[in-house]
Amino acid sequence: MNDPIIRVLIDRTAIALRVAELGARLTRELPGTPPLLVPVMDGAMVFAADLMREIRIPLDILPIKASSYGNATASSGIVRLPRGIPEEIAGRNILVIDDILDTGRTLGLLRTELLKGGARSVQTCVLLRKESARHLDADYVGFEIPDRFVVGYGLDLAGRHRNLPDIAIVSGGE
Ligand code: IMP
Ligand code: MG
Repeated sequence: MNDPIIRVLIDRTAIALRVAELGARLTRELPGTPPLLVPVMDGAMVFAADLMREIRIPLDILPIKASSYGNATASSGIVRLPRGIPEEIAGRNILVIDDILDTGRTLGLLRTELLKGGARSVQTCVLLRKESARHLDADYVGFEIPDRFVVGYGLDLAGRHRNLPDIAIVSGGE
């Protein structure tokens, strides 16, 4: 099978430096009650695993499953929370962690559902924000990137390439 990766956009060293910066900020700024980190599965698994180790305060972690992409490189437009929202989020100060902000539908839906489920506060942290999403609100953003389809560091193309340590642009991903 042809490898669709054409070039590295952000290498592992740059990612690690930025994740450490975000973790230092979150250590200072997160409400210490303790906060509840909510990584959005599956894409945020790698980012969240690194980020949580850079946050030096007590915290809880509760991954939530969301899916918006099928096997294509363009959003299906439909976001699903196949396992719903767990009851334990009620009353908590939540930091939602996602890999990338694209159309904003995933974080929009999660924010609404978490607040509906009784969350005390909802903040968001994304590793990447696409240029077309720069008007969309996230409390913490790692990198602004062009409107291309990217893989690696947890991000996939039809389930593949999540284990690539760098973030790379794939061909046909504009
Ligand atoms: P949104 O709901 O359109 O903001 O999309 C967010 C979700 O779509 C992310 O959590 C990713 O799973 C997926 N996604 C969006 N853009 C990309 C990309 O360039 N590569 C891989 N996944 C992406
Ligand atoms: Mg995702």
